[in-house]
Amino acid sequence: PTVLILNGPNLNLLGEREPAIYGRAKLADIEKSCRKRAKELGLAADFKQSNHEGELVDWIQAARLSHAAIVINPAAYTHTSVALLDALTAAGLPVIEVHLSNIHRRDRFRHHSYVSLAATGVICGLGAQGYLLALDAVATLLKTQEE
Ligand code: DQA
Repeated sequence: PTVLILNGPNLNLLGEREPAIYGRAKLADIEKSCRKRAKELGLAADFKQSNHEGELVDWIQAARLSHAAIVINPAAYTHTSVALLDALTAAGLPVIEVHLSNIHRRDRFRHHSYVSLAATGVICGLGAQGYLLALDAVATLLKTQEE
């Protein structure tokens, strides 16, 4: 089974962007550790980033038939995008929402997530480790689906 790992706008700047909030790891480092963890769990990882809402929607729509689950850090679109929410709902796959920072400890406008309405589970505040925890959760969810 292949997991689609999606990253929203500005996450291509990880490592240089507000390191006090988002950490020093670059997106390529996170991708590498996700691929390793996925392999250990018997999964394949399809890792993507886009600054464009519509491109993320297209990828989610395509995943419906080709992927077993979606891990998504929607970044700023978390707080604005009904389009991502609708696409994730339509996909009908397990969805784990990940945020590097603890969005509940930050600006008020970051406390609300449209995406959470379509999420099986949400992980925030644990930095890059959150992506690995999300993959662990996907492996467990897929296993219970089989039983
Ligand atoms: C983020 C939190 C969002 O509020 C922010 O817009 C991001 C990153 C996180 O990973 O902590 O770009 O999703």
